[in-house]
Amino acid sequence: MTCSQTSLKSLNTFGLSVSAERIVYAHNTETLIESWQANQNKPWLLIGGGSNMLFLDDFDGTVVVNQLKGMSIEQNQEEWLIHCAAGENWHEFVALTVKEGMAGLENLALIPGTVGSAPIQNIGAYGVELKDVCAYVDILDLNRNKTMRLTNKECLFGYRESIFKHQYQQGYVITAVGFSLTKHWQPNLSYGPLNSTETPLLTPQAIFDKVCEIRRSKLPDPAKIGNAGSFFKNPIISTQDAEAIKRHYPNAPFYPQCGNLVKVAAGWLIDQAGLKGYKADHAGVHPQQALVLINLGDAQPEDLVSMAKHVRDTVFNKFAIWLEPEVRFIGRQGEVNAVETLS
Ligand code: FAD
Ligand code: EPU
Repeated sequence: MTCSQTSLKSLNTFGLSVSAERIVYAHNTETLIESWQANQNKPWLLIGGGSNMLFLDDFDGTVVVNQLKGMSIEQNQEEWLIHCAAGENWHEFVALTVKEGMAGLENLALIPGTVGSAPIQNIGAYGVELKDVCAYVDILDLNRNKTMRLTNKECLFGYRESIFKHQYQQGYVITAVGFSLTKHWQPNLSYGPLNSTETPLLTPQAIFDKVCEIRRSKLPDPAKIGNAGSFFKNPIISTQDAEAIKRHYPNAPFYPQCGNLVKVAAGWLIDQAGLKGYKADHAGVHPQQALVLINLGDAQPEDLVSMAKHVRDTVFNKFAIWLEPEVRFIGRQGEVNAVETLS
């Protein structure tokens, strides 16, 4: 369905006033294919909730909003097997599974966006990543009008990484995700604040509620303050470089990784660089979570780009670490390289 409206303001959580030539709402795969074929060699962008993107300008082409809906549930003695269409809202899907007694997604509550986007950056929060619960991902090859199913292993999931950012990015649409939720549930309380509550969190609902409470206390609600969650990824550095930082900052939040590597909290780096709450023009660094860049009102894309550059340069000057954006940068013709845009 083509829509007469062309503003993208309500379709990106930064709330930027940009527009597209055309906006199409795709409720089925036929619409996706038709729209793709009608726009051969013209800019074409599929979006879910627009919660992980920064539009740099108006979009000179068609934006297709994924509205594929539906869900089916099977079970055996060991697990629940849920097949969920890509256009379903992620948080509503998580809330429904928890309410219906299918545990395993509770740590991933309140992440904005759609189910279909979740595998792309292997969404993660509070000790759980999508890869821990994903059985398969269905993708539609738009050029061949063919659907394929990728197993969890084939998705090549990593920290904020998957094959959908590479081989299966252009010309492919995620149409559904399959979840495998074990019936032998164990709470995942590996994230500190979930483990330090007065009353132990013993049920999926209690964890879901706590995760929502923590998130509401530090992450801005995009309906009120435009943002796209963590703007940068947490950088992964060598143990040697981490030790050098530790000498000056013994309490720095570092997370050891395989192979002599350490993940550093980017929010902490930005905070230590003195930028928490910093504002310039119509953009800012969130006062409760320095990793989140915010639209203070009528921000233009360039206000957020300047802010991101300033944050990135300041952190580099203090710690000799270059932050890489997690957020996807969208130019007039399609996605552009975020690091190059900020360099
Ligand atoms: P969009 O922003 O619409 O799209 C993202 C990218 O995926 C784009 O390149 C788009 O073209 C592509 N795409 C979208 N749908 C499809 C599809 N069906 N097939 C192929 N390509 C597609 N992320 C986390 O990992 N953990 C968090 O805790 C977290 N917290 C957040 C908190 C806030 C307040 C906000 C605003 C964001 C947060 N995010 C978090 C980031 C974001 O919510 C996730 O990345 C989410 O999965 C993006 O979903 P979306 O539907 O909005 O994707
Ligand atoms: N910190 C500070 N100052 C800040 C922000 C954080 O010192 O301003 C410190 C915290 O005290 C803590 C550490 O940095 O010791 C990590 O902070 P937090 O637990 O808030 O998590 P994060 O690393 O900033 C990551 C994800 C989030 C996810 C949370 C919870 C990335 C890039 N971000 O944030 O995901 O919700 O962990 O698991 O990995 C997103 O991707 O958009 C996102 C919000």
